Amino acid sequence: MNTKLSVNVNKIALLRNSRGGNVPNVIQFAKDCERYGADGITVHPRPDERHITRDDVYALKEVVTTEFNIEGYPSEDFIRMVLDVKPTQCTLVPDAPDQLTSDHGWDTLKHEDFLRDVIRELQKNGIRVSLFIDPIRALLEGALKTETDRIEFYTGPYAHDYSLNREEAVKSFALAAQWCDELQLGVNAGHDLSLQNLRYFREQLPNLMEVSIGHALVNDCLYLGLQNVVSMYKRELGTL
Ligand code: PXP
Repeated sequence: MNTKLSVNVNKIALLRNSRGGNVPNVIQFAKDCERYGADGITVHPRPDERHITRDDVYALKEVVTTEFNIEGYPSEDFIRMVLDVKPTQCTLVPDAPDQLTSDHGWDTLKHEDFLRDVIRELQKNGIRVSLFIDPIRALLEGALKTETDRIEFYTGPYAHDYSLNREEAVKSFALAAQWCDELQLGVNAGHDLSLQNLRYFREQLPNLMEVSIGHALVNDCLYLGLQNVVSMYKRELGTL
């Protein structure tokens, strides 16, 4: 299976917001990601709009030609926006409003009824749904009951443990991905995936449909571009 790369552009919005104005331009960045081969664009608008704003979500919908994925906690406000924008996919996360970043998946057993209702509403509007989840059998069976199309594994623990023992780190995810095949749940993954740990994860999960990556990818843009950019500035100063 070819695994799709969806680029999460939250960090670009964070940098823009730190200065006011429109540099870097989130919309242009998303368009260029697509131009360079990204298979999708992901945003995770938070209630305080500290990075992606509601306006960004609407503006991106106009330009994204690949898969548009909106992540978030299914508050009434969030669901209203998603139904209005109609992205390709909506990834539901159990985050508190002020959470720094997602750090756990859904308790699909406890929230089964709530999730089923939300998922039905989204699917009725032609939106594919994915549930952010930890690789635990009972939670996957719970996810199946919500009638979600896919799950997204929270890969933070994998990324954290990768350098200690990658075979151990991937074990629960590889097994859970096999269960997903049995349960006919599509498999996405995200959080702290990077150039260091991505290939091995993909090799161990042959049914991995999509990864969404933001933090490490933007960090790599900075570092891999650094030498070139410092030289360009020195050239402008006539000192190179
Ligand atoms: N998936 C979800 C649900 C997330 O909240 C995030 C972070 O916004 C990601 C994937 C991407 O994680 P990272 O920025 O570490 O690549």
